[in-house]
Amino acid sequence: MGSGVLNTYLDLLPVTSATPMITLGEGDTPLVKSNRLGRELGCTELYFKLEGCNPTGSFKDRGMVVAIAKALEEGTKAIMCASTGNTSASAAAFGAYCEIPTFVLIPKGEVAMGKLAQAMIYGAKVIMVDGNFDVALGLVREFTGRNDVTLVNSVNPYRLEGQKTAAFEIVDRLGDAPDYLFIPVGNAGNITAYWKGFSEYFKMERALQRPRMMGFQAEGAAPIVHGQMVSEPSTIASAIRIGNPASWNGALRAKDQSGGVIDMVTDDEILDAYKTLSRHEGIFCEPASAASVAGLIKLVHNGLRLDDKRSVCVLTGTGLKDPELANECAEGPLKTIEGDLEEVRNNLQHLIEYTIRYFKQILKQYG
Ligand code: F0G
Repeated sequence: MGSGVLNTYLDLLPVTSATPMITLGEGDTPLVKSNRLGRELGCTELYFKLEGCNPTGSFKDRGMVVAIAKALEEGTKAIMCASTGNTSASAAAFGAYCEIPTFVLIPKGEVAMGKLAQAMIYGAKVIMVDGNFDVALGLVREFTGRNDVTLVNSVNPYRLEGQKTAAFEIVDRLGDAPDYLFIPVGNAGNITAYWKGFSEYFKMERALQRPRMMGFQAEGAAPIVHGQMVSEPSTIASAIRIGNPASWNGALRAKDQSGGVIDMVTDDEILDAYKTLSRHEGIFCEPASAASVAGLIKLVHNGLRLDDKRSVCVLTGTGLKDPELANECAEGPLKTIEGDLEEVRNNLQHLIEYTIRYFKQILKQYG
């Protein structure tokens, strides 16, 4: 454990004797059982896969380590990606670790502060494009096609190879695949990779079943749901603000072959799920990640029954990526008081008394 994706799943990845076994400690992320939401939704077993616990705070490290290892094996001189933020943070970290120059195009003004800070401090050359993610990815594809620079977006097949290991981990941990997997969809690489992982394990009889793949886009950026490209995608979940997903067909295959759905959730539903996860489960994820939970809540409210079912929600990135949003969502302004006990008492005494009364009542209920 903790030895990284390449070492752990060596025989299931495109590793040769010439592949450098690099790692920043990616993978082996927690699968946490829901404390409250599962009960409230009548979901017998609900788990959250905390991909924010990867070294750069998102699931991207799983695929990036494989893409970079293969790039090194092939003698690459530089790597490049377009990104809504997390891919660039991950590419920049592995680029730094392996001393490969890293070039990043990001949509201007659309990347959360934490992600941009990561790419910069890891030393990537970051350039903002006056356009959205789809424009930036188009440019990167063209540029890398003409130059000796390796493209490390998820159109690089090694990225999906690495990302499929999250499905392996879920099966290894639960003893079988879950009945349902809820997952956010942006460029659609991750849902494609999970389906590949579950399918491989199923074929090898390491799992007895495959889950229904439940993918969720944001309402203002839901090209797959509408069956057409969105030229100006918009959502508070900047990570999935994508109008023309590169792995569109992969997402449709995952949905069709698994009997799942590709559906959408509104920004309000995403924010509600984001706050619910923080306040009632102690899990701080980024808004795009909360789309999986928003989708679960939406479908259960629409009649999906999950009693006697095992479900996993993939939480793709940590909430620390976007602290500004968290502050905006927090209740009330922060107050400053004088540094003396009287002031602390004035401000907190009634709250503490209330809390104690509340807990006494609860304890009485339990006898
Ligand atoms: N969640 C987070 C936190 C993401 O950063 C992304 C994608 C997704 C979900 C969607 O995954 O694209 O495989 O369907 N982020 C990319 C990036 C686009 O550039 O970091 P997907």
